[in-house]
Amino acid sequence: MIEIKFYITTPIYYVNDVPHIGHAYTTIAADIIARWNRVKGKEVFFLTGLDEHGEKIAEAALKAGLTPQEFVDSIAPKFIKAWEKLNISNDDFIRTTEERHKKTVIEIIKRIYENGDIYKGEYEGWYCTACESFWTEIQLNNGRCPQCGREVKRLKEESYFFRLSKYQKKLLEFYERNPDFVLPESRKKEMINRIREGLKDISITRKTVKWAIQFPFDKEHSLYVWVDALINYISALDFPGEKFKKFWPPDVELMAKEINWFHSVIWPALLFSAGIELPRKNFVHGWWTVEGKKMSKSLGNVIDPIEMVNKYGSDALRYYLFREVPFGQDGDFSEKSLVNRINTELADSLGNLVNRVLVLVEKNFDGYVPKPKEKDKLTKLSLNVVKAVDESMEEFRFHSALNDIFFLVNESNKYINENKPWEIEDKEKLGGILYNLLETLRFISILIYPFMPETAGKIMKQLGIEKKISFDDLKWGILKSGTKIKRDKILFNKIIL
Ligand code: MSP
Repeated sequence: MIEIKFYITTPIYYVNDVPHIGHAYTTIAADIIARWNRVKGKEVFFLTGLDEHGEKIAEAALKAGLTPQEFVDSIAPKFIKAWEKLNISNDDFIRTTEERHKKTVIEIIKRIYENGDIYKGEYEGWYCTACESFWTEIQLNNGRCPQCGREVKRLKEESYFFRLSKYQKKLLEFYERNPDFVLPESRKKEMINRIREGLKDISITRKTVKWAIQFPFDKEHSLYVWVDALINYISALDFPGEKFKKFWPPDVELMAKEINWFHSVIWPALLFSAGIELPRKNFVHGWWTVEGKKMSKSLGNVIDPIEMVNKYGSDALRYYLFREVPFGQDGDFSEKSLVNRINTELADSLGNLVNRVLVLVEKNFDGYVPKPKEKDKLTKLSLNVVKAVDESMEEFRFHSALNDIFFLVNESNKYINENKPWEIEDKEKLGGILYNLLETLRFISILIYPFMPETAGKIMKQLGIEKKISFDDLKWGILKSGTKIKRDKILFNKIIL
């Protein structure tokens, strides 16, 4: 049976800061996957949102002279606006300060507690507020946070613990039975090795943190922000109602490598304890640096996605991010490289192809789609590219998918040069060649849609097609002869830096 539901999530981002290119990257990746699955006929639920509790947010609010709630309310619209600008098609936007979320968190914690997996003890160790993470003495790097390098503080307080250690064997068995649970493979191996080293119970409450959800079994304690945050994936589905029954579990949870541990070890253990099915897949991607350096406010090199969209357009940015770096690997952002790709691949190759073909149809057939003649090597290539792109997309190999699509674009340009339509006098033959080019353009527009939804829509419109984009239409010969094409402005302007 073909599965018809598809649930995809992004991490919920901390609101201590405004959205940057790193947040945009994961969110666009999720959008590409969501759009692809919709095109394939699935009912998609695409969730993103914000992580609004914890010490780090409370500190940022204090600095801004606002209450934590006022502060998070002031930042949330910035994320919403950024995702609108980037054409993100999320179906919901969860904020952990919402009632629906708090209610579900309490329900899940109760289940875990009733299962005997929470006990009272004392935590002694180190805490990094920036990463909202606990560390042991051995894990520290020269006395600093091993993840972000910032100062850590010594904590010694009464705390409730979750019996993570109890799930070591069960987790390893789960990994064994579900070899695709964590991708790429190297990220899975890291997790398996760490689980094998031994799991320690984790502190899940704090006495001193007030900006958090209250621990339901002891009013003096609040819930650790990570436990609160992970549950968003459930609370957005109105657990345990119809939406939950329909969409749970996530088909894929996306994130970058620094939070793999939370999603691939702690989260599954919490779900085991609560008696809830585990997500099907965690896809862990790499980090973007900027001209070789980590993005940071102090270096002043933080890339604002809105500024990039205003300068270059949403589709160009989306294209660049996924063409430049294989999904899963680290990448380095460079505006020069972005502009270079716009000028060569988007303007010279794709934009030019669309314009050339439509001009030829206008000139020779008054702007009406000519009659097909015979299928040829372009037909074969288009159909082969569909197959290859389908395989790549299903495995999140966006980079290969784009490579193949742009191979088709380049081959189509070559096909024009080789066939020299301007020299062909036989109208029927000329019509056949232009028909094949128009069909290829239609294929290209469907295939680029998840990456560049605006451009796909523009090409479709110019081809005189008003139908919703569907994978089922990737069959040769659907474009009707006699359809009036509507040539419009060129798709991409060249940029001079
Ligand atoms: N609030 C937690 C997540 C809780 S999920 C239950 C958090 N928030 S965050 O704001 O720090 O976002 C981290 C995520 O943002 C990364 O895992 C990744 O998805 C994205 N990125 C942030 N910076 C990034 C880069 N420099 N490069 C690539 N992705 C980046 O962690």
